[in-house]
Amino acid sequence: MNYEIERGDNFVLIKGDFFEIMDELRDNLRGKVGAVITDPPYGRAQYSNKFNKYLIPLSDDKRRKFVEFVSDVLMSRSYAFVCTNCFEYAKYVIDFERRGFELYGDVVIVYGQGAPKKYRLRDSHEHLLIFTRDIRKDVDINSFKNVYHTIRARGINRCHPVEFKNAPYEKIGVTVKPLMLLRKIVRTFTRQNELIVDMFAGSASIGESALLEGRRYLGVEIRDYVFEFALERLRKVERDIKEQRVIFYNYKK
Ligand SMILES: C[S@@+](CC[C@H](N)C(=O)[O-])C[C@H]1O[C@@H](n2cnc3c(N)ncnc32)[C@H](O)[C@@H]1O
Repeated sequence: MNYEIERGDNFVLIKGDFFEIMDELRDNLRGKVGAVITDPPYGRAQYSNKFNKYLIPLSDDKRRKFVEFVSDVLMSRSYAFVCTNCFEYAKYVIDFERRGFELYGDVVIVYGQGAPKKYRLRDSHEHLLIFTRDIRKDVDINSFKNVYHTIRARGINRCHPVEFKNAPYEKIGVTVKPLMLLRKIVRTFTRQNELIVDMFAGSASIGESALLEGRRYLGVEIRDYVFEFALERLRKVERDIKEQRVIFYNYKK
């Protein structure tokens, strides 16, 4: 098993294969996680060879192991958020239902419009599925719409593709999640200091959102240059928080 751990004040970022360290993580995290918010690979163009092996959808076996892990580590009444596309949607619903969860909501995120022209993104969308076993009473989820949909990637849904300068293949991460939307999710569905776990961290948009909302974050990323990007980003966020250079709670509900 080959992995590396980097820590900040309120985050842990692990470089490695989630499936290799899953059992160790499970032992440490059982019942302690305030929310799993993650974006497993699903290869937007399944049938294209443009995507490397880390971006194709999880196999059935891995997807089930991932769902089982989520079920084991979540606190009893907390939520799991899983980004996916229409091909994988029903598979996640079935696997989560087998573990006693219900599909609570579906946030539709639309990409493309609003992104700088140089990225030449075509409009596409993805689903952020919300699963729960039991509605939490200590957070007010009524302020969150069950289905969140926008046709323009602006405001809360603004997407900022990131540039991986040292990347051997793709130079940008395009399914980077809208920060304001993630921050609202974090703020709505979890409480201060709770631990948010993201086993497919990518550029760590979820990590940044967690830290900016005063939560703790544990992320795992398998690719070196993406991990380096994420680590630098999380360190910068913590520096900015210490030096009071970030605006907290700057999104009107
Ligand atoms: C869809 S991307 C996440 C993008 C992220 N939401 C963002 O805002 O940048 C999925 C990430 O999971 C990583 N990944 C794929 N398989 C993995 C594994 N077995 N363990 C850990 N990370 C993995 C990929 O390298 C990729 O960066």
